[in-house]
Amino acid sequence: SGPRHLMSIADVSPAEFASLVRNAAARKTAVKSTQPPLSLTTGLANKTVAMMFSKRSTRTRVSTEAAVTLMGGNPMFLGKDDIQLGVNESLYDTSVVISSMTSCMVARVGPHSDVANLAKHSSVPVINALSDDFHPLQTIADFLTIHEAFPASQSGKLGLGLEGLKVAWIGDSNNVLFDLAIGCVKMGVDISVASPNGYGIPQSMKDLINSAAQGVSSPGKLLETNVPEEAIKNADILVTDTWISMGQESEKKKRLDAFAGYQITNELAKRGGAKEGWKFMHCLPRHPEEVADEVFYSPRSLVFPEAENRLWAAVCESMSLIHRYMMSIADATL
Ligand code: CP
Ligand code: NVA
Repeated sequence: SGPRHLMSIADVSPAEFASLVRNAAARKTAVKSTQPPLSLTTGLANKTVAMMFSKRSTRTRVSTEAAVTLMGGNPMFLGKDDIQLGVNESLYDTSVVISSMTSCMVARVGPHSDVANLAKHSSVPVINALSDDFHPLQTIADFLTIHEAFPASQSGKLGLGLEGLKVAWIGDSNNVLFDLAIGCVKMGVDISVASPNGYGIPQSMKDLINSAAQGVSSPGKLLETNVPEEAIKNADILVTDTWISMGQESEKKKRLDAFAGYQITNELAKRGGAKEGWKFMHCLPRHPEEVADEVFYSPRSLVFPEAENRLWAAVCESMSLIHRYMMSIADATL
């Protein structure tokens, strides 16, 4: 069998997802507090990780390069003007060639089918670094952030012990939301989504999110509304993202109009009846229209620890996928 890929949080079981988050937490502690174990700092020795990015990136690029470096490997950044990706040769050709020379591909693309096609033809693991549909590395970092911010609930055995928390997503139904919602369903966290008419979750994506409940004893529930206050009621965490994702720049005016009234402010949180100790999260990059400074730069805001946690999610993820790849070669040679 071929290598395993990470296209979406839908690709991992609830137990695997919980262990990715726990491993990220453990590696964060190890690197910060003591001499990190040799296995961690040499895990990618002599390995090259190809980072193929057809869109801009601050966090995903820096966290992945830093994570691979920390683990003793070589991150090779290939921007959209550097290689032929999707422009001058087929994805098939690019995938076969790059995977013959490297140990892992990390790809940021537009259409999800681009990263899925890279994975389909690759002999090494492919990690989705953001597509139009999913952002799994963000979701691992987000759950690490939630796990740290709600320590009273860290006792869960199989999952993360987060059952009963409620997330309210106020804004656009996009890539970041879809994987976050899949993670919530798997971890027993309820998620309420408020988006304007015409900007809700597409039916096929809703089906995928709801199917994440299969085999989970107390799955989180997905609720949808057009009324931000309704989503916010009793929420522990308010989350949003840009209203204009990369590739949607031409819709800027239309979107700014459609999302009027969706800005997260203290007043909206109060009116909606968020829990008293509510926290705020945002994957970044952030624009003031979706969240006011009074929230974004407040003590409630987890955005900077959340961004740093991208590093620990990447340390954990590259390590475990490449490890599995090595194991699959070992299995094949037996
Ligand atoms: N959150 C995130 O993926 O940020 P970048 O687009 O800067 O990588
Ligand atoms: N939804 C945003 C996320 C960026 C990390 C985008 O796709 O541009």
